[in-house]
Amino acid sequence: MKRTEIRDIIRDSVAYVGSGRRLRVDGWARTVRDSKNVAFMEINDGSCFQSLQAVLSRDSLPNYDEVAKTASGSSVSVEGEIVESQGGRQPFELRALGVTVITACPPQYPMQKKRHTLEFLRGMPHLRPRTNTFAAAFRVRSLLAYEIHRFFHNRGFVLVHTPIITTSDSEGAGELFRVTILDPARPPLADGGSSGVGAGAGAVAVDFSQDFFGREASLTVSGQLEAEAFALAFGKVYTFGPTFRAENSNTARHAAEFWMVEPEIAFADLSDDMDLAEDLLRYLIRQLLEQAQPELEFFNLRVDSGLIARLEGIERAEFARITYTEAIELLLGSGAKFEREPSWGMDLQTEHERFLTEKLLKKPVFVTDYPKQIKAFYMRQNDDGKTVAAMDLLVPDIGELIGGSQREEREGPLRSRMGELGMDVSAYEWYFELRRFGGAPHAGFGLGFERTVMYLTGISNIRDVLPFPRTAGQAK
Ligand code: 4AD
Ligand code: MG
Repeated sequence: MKRTEIRDIIRDSVAYVGSGRRLRVDGWARTVRDSKNVAFMEINDGSCFQSLQAVLSRDSLPNYDEVAKTASGSSVSVEGEIVESQGGRQPFELRALGVTVITACPPQYPMQKKRHTLEFLRGMPHLRPRTNTFAAAFRVRSLLAYEIHRFFHNRGFVLVHTPIITTSDSEGAGELFRVTILDPARPPLADGGSSGVGAGAGAVAVDFSQDFFGREASLTVSGQLEAEAFALAFGKVYTFGPTFRAENSNTARHAAEFWMVEPEIAFADLSDDMDLAEDLLRYLIRQLLEQAQPELEFFNLRVDSGLIARLEGIERAEFARITYTEAIELLLGSGAKFEREPSWGMDLQTEHERFLTEKLLKKPVFVTDYPKQIKAFYMRQNDDGKTVAAMDLLVPDIGELIGGSQREEREGPLRSRMGELGMDVSAYEWYFELRRFGGAPHAGFGLGFERTVMYLTGISNIRDVLPFPRTAGQAK
């Protein structure tokens, strides 16, 4: 007999319940309650968030005494039929007519205790997907990834797989993970010598021309620059892939390896860019509300009691749009005390971002037109000579969810800005050519995928929405 998945049983329950059809369910026993002549086994087979209750009775099972003691976590195969449930907790259940324990879980299984803290579970990333919280989180993550692709494909965007290994620092922030095949103990040196172990390496520059790519290379921090090249051919593109930052910020919102969604649109300005971002978020929320009800209900119950109401609210509300200058004025005028006093020119701190979106505006807010000295080199300079056409989307509990901008499409201002920042422009000749050869106004943004999953589930630590999180000091 072939295996039937619990999701199919739930979806077509009308066809199953009381039909007398015999079927087989394979999964893991979440819990087993034995009350002498009848036992209840909660089976989860991973096909959906919900579990199915199997009823085991002494009358119909020759191995009852063995299977009624099945340890939670054991893999099982249960044959039987779907019947209306006697108890009130579920509409139907599986009346077991044969039970095989595939692998009984020994008592050392750490998930046997009912509720562990998320911190404790972080220590066992290979086992935590078996718990409800992580089952729900990673199902939502999967659905969101799929719906992001669907959103862009429905709108005619072309997906571009931008490189993981790059030779330019696209954010200019210097948070790069180096990619090299040079021997760290004896790297070739620029003066032709070779350093011995501990022989004062650092005093002489390493000769990266002898490295694999003939130059310095690193893991990408963003696919934006390459996405720009494709946007200037396809008009509307997006990239969605892993990005890497050696940021040593040990917060609940920073990971060293995270995923970013980066659309790039040609013949578009900052306001088109914000419209796109807002549409995308609204679309994702609608899909979640429609397709992930069991998971959202679980989060609402166990993780964040205002979640569903909040999501419904965001789906309806217009996002606020204010300039950086207005944001500073609002913060100063609020009378609130901050650890760092806001002042024009400073980068907004998380405390400021959260105060704006949580306390003052109480909804997602785009902050635009930041001072140029706190933003990346590629952002379009505004006529005031001080600010750039940047936008950050700030949301409650998370802070920055999206960073984007209209790009500097004029070669002259771009070159002079890069010069001001002391960048080595020789590596960016291709980037200038994008401007010179049929350049056009264009814009884009980066949506932090993990922060989006956090925002839409209420999970407060980025380590709990990454399957195997990599953060400063940790990569298990
Ligand atoms: O604001 P960022 O640095 O923007 C860029 O990289 C642009 N090149 C994007 C673009 O315009 N195409 O990063 C974008 C988003 C942030 O808003 C944040 O949500 C997320 O990426 N992010 C991180 N998420 C987790 N861990 C980190 N260390 C992150 N750094 C940025
Ligand atoms: Mg940013």
